[in-house]
Amino acid sequence: MLTIDKLNFSYGDLKVLWDIDLEVHQGEIVSVVGANGAGKSTTLKNISRLVRPASGTTTFLGENLASLASHQVVERGIVQVPEGRKIFPEMTVMENLLMGSYLKSTRKDRKGNLERVFTLFPRLKEREKQLGGTMSGGEQQMLAIARGLMANPKLLLLDEPSLGLSPLFVKIIFEIIQEINRQGVTILLVEQNVYQSLKIANRAYVLETGRVVLAGGGQELLGNEHVKKAFLGM
Ligand SMILES: Nc1ncnc2c1ncn2[C@@H]1O[C@H](COP(=O)(O)OP(=O)(O)OP(=O)(O)O)[C@@H](O)[C@H]1O
Ligand SMILES: [Mg+2]
Repeated sequence: MLTIDKLNFSYGDLKVLWDIDLEVHQGEIVSVVGANGAGKSTTLKNISRLVRPASGTTTFLGENLASLASHQVVERGIVQVPEGRKIFPEMTVMENLLMGSYLKSTRKDRKGNLERVFTLFPRLKEREKQLGGTMSGGEQQMLAIARGLMANPKLLLLDEPSLGLSPLFVKIIFEIIQEINRQGVTILLVEQNVYQSLKIANRAYVLETGRVVLAGGGQELLGNEHVKKAFLGM
C-alpha cells in the first residue's frame, strides 16, 4: 500500500533521516518505535508532505506522492493525527469533528462518519457541545483520532497517541486502534510505548538517530535482545 524507498531528509544543515526504507501493506498495523529525536515524527511528516524529502521515493497505492500537496495526500486517503493532539481548543467537539471532513470528497460521508466515531467513542457523543480545550488529555486524544477518521482514511498515521495518558486511557487507546484496524483502516503507528505498540503490530521498525536499525514482526521484535535492552528495560 505504502512504500518508502531510500528516504533522506534534513532540517537545514541537520540531517535527520538516512535512507529510510519502510513498507505498509493493506490491512496491517505497522509500528515505528524509537527514542526521542530518532526521526519518527519527521518520517510521518514526509509521508503527509508537510515537509519535502531531500531524496527518496514514497508511493501510495502505486502513485508517487512527490508532486502532491499535503491536502491532496489527504484526498488520496492518508490522514495524519499529529503528535500533541492539536485539536481546536475554542471549538466544540462537534465543530472539531466537522473540521475533519472539510474536504469536498469527505463531506458527503459526514453523517455516516459521525455515527461511526460516536459508536467508537461514546464519550465524545456525550460531550458534543463541550469546548475541545476543556476536555481531559485522554478525551482530547480521542477527539484527535475521531477527527482523523472523519476524513475517511485508508491509511491512518498516528503520532504518539498514548503520550501523557493514564494507564487506563493508554489501554483504551490501544484497543480503539485495533478496532479501527478491524474496521478496515490500515495503521502506521509511531509510539514511545514500545511494549504496547509492538504487541499490537503486525510488523514494526526500530529507528535510531534517523536510521532503520531493525525491522520485523511485532512479536519477533518484542523478543529481540536489542529491543529488550534498549526499550523494555529487560
Ligand atoms: N522543525 C524542525 N527544525 C529543526 N530540527 C527539527 C525540527 N523538527 C525536528 N527537528 C529535529 O529532527 C530530529 C528528529 O525529530 P523528530 O521530531 O522526527 O523525532 P521523534 O522521533 O518524533 O522524537 P519524539 O519522540 O521526541 O517525538 C530531532 O533531532 C529534532 O530536534
Ligand atoms: Mg515525535
